[in-house]
Amino acid sequence: MARLKPTFVCQACGAVTSRWAGKCEACGAWNAIVEEAAAAPLPGGASSTTARALGRGRVVVLEGLSGATDEAPRLVSGLGELDRVTGGGFVHGSALLLGGEPGIGKSTLLLQGSAALARAGHRVVYVSGEEAAAQVRLRAQRLGLADAPVALAAETNVEDILATLKDGPPPRLVIIDSIQTLWTSQVEAAPGTVTQVRAAAQAMIRYAKTTGACVILVGHVTKDGQIAGPRVVEHMVDAVLSFEGDSGRDFRILRAQKNRFGPTDEIGVFAMTGDGLEQVTNPSALFLGDREPDAPGAAVLAGLEGSRPILVEIQALVVPSTLGTPRRAVVGWDNARLAMVLAVLEARCGVRLGGHDVHLAVAGGLRIQEPAADLAVAAALVSSLTGAALPVDAVFFGEIGLTGAVRPVSHPGPRLREAARLGFKRGVLPAAAADAAQGTDVSIVAIPTLDVLVARLAA
Ligand code: TYD
Ligand code: MG
Repeated sequence: MARLKPTFVCQACGAVTSRWAGKCEACGAWNAIVEEAAAAPLPGGASSTTARALGRGRVVVLEGLSGATDEAPRLVSGLGELDRVTGGGFVHGSALLLGGEPGIGKSTLLLQGSAALARAGHRVVYVSGEEAAAQVRLRAQRLGLADAPVALAAETNVEDILATLKDGPPPRLVIIDSIQTLWTSQVEAAPGTVTQVRAAAQAMIRYAKTTGACVILVGHVTKDGQIAGPRVVEHMVDAVLSFEGDSGRDFRILRAQKNRFGPTDEIGVFAMTGDGLEQVTNPSALFLGDREPDAPGAAVLAGLEGSRPILVEIQALVVPSTLGTPRRAVVGWDNARLAMVLAVLEARCGVRLGGHDVHLAVAGGLRIQEPAADLAVAAALVSSLTGAALPVDAVFFGEIGLTGAVRPVSHPGPRLREAARLGFKRGVLPAAAADAAQGTDVSIVAIPTLDVLVARLAA
């Protein structure tokens, strides 16, 4: 057998090089390259490779697209916020990665999901590499889930886990908490390294595909995504969910970053309580909870996350700058998008903010991606600059173009209905969406171009 040459693997992106370097050529990370022993060839791998080299591959049965199965295509947990994000439940034979910072509540969420599925009669195996079975049991007790028939194992070796899974009745759902703790004897690297995480994830994904069980891998990610592992695994799994939240706050947002079997724009909202995670079915009320009515610089966005309208407050603070280059600080929104709105305000509406520091924040720690927030952001900026609070009963939405035109956005109707439900009386929105208020008692302020809004706010 050929002698194994050492290889160098970037722990941030998984790039393999033959020499050590301070900076990874592939992703630019510093001090992330670590020496790892090269993977030994998998047993059985050699013979099939040889066969292929000789042109004698195994004949695989080709199947058609149709073919009915009796089984329900998905495992529905009954936790509505979780099922919404997965696209209606976990898909059989799929592998899913749940990423998030340590302590955010991944284990709690999966324990609650496992218990719900186990109570519904599905066989669920929860493999914890981080906590002893007794600790998991203790947590289940605290959550009032002790009676749920979830099978527990505290194990980190992949071969042992697979042997255990094959021994009993076949599970429908397997939770691996976490992928960083797993190790396989097939490779020599230490647990947590890219090589180990990749090999272990591969083995578990193969298990999912061959048995039809759904496998959920938990992955810890630090704030800057530095820790080895999950980034590499993201490409291998069918779906990547991330669990986010502010450590200072109680609510958590579950978001799909990638999903082969469902949408990626849905979010699930939970609140961490003393009794575990509670589903938040009315997130708007939560995000608007601590509003101050007469504060300048605050505008309510009638936003949309996936199919669900969510109202959230956008806060801006505009102050004269003492710096040569004024500060632009954004939390929960896109920096480039803020720069664009500022440029349009300056060029098309004569609002000069070049000498001001601008701070923008989405209240409650929500992260907004849709351009519909442009109009609310512009309103908040102008309100902070003039010091005049916006009407407390108004919601805003609309995309701003470079010409200053306010463009229509998707689903104005649901946005306004949600606003009406929460007691808002005015909708400031693109002229093209003016008839969306039909059937609600929201009165419309149609804004064709941004300078019209600025003029109204200055009046
Ligand atoms: P955990 O699920 O262990 O996080 P992760 O698996 O992502 O590392 O959750 C840890 C935090 O959640 C911990 O700081 C305590 C808190 N927590 C509660 O507030 N209430 C609860 O009922 C539970 C189980 C945890
Ligand atoms: Mg955990």
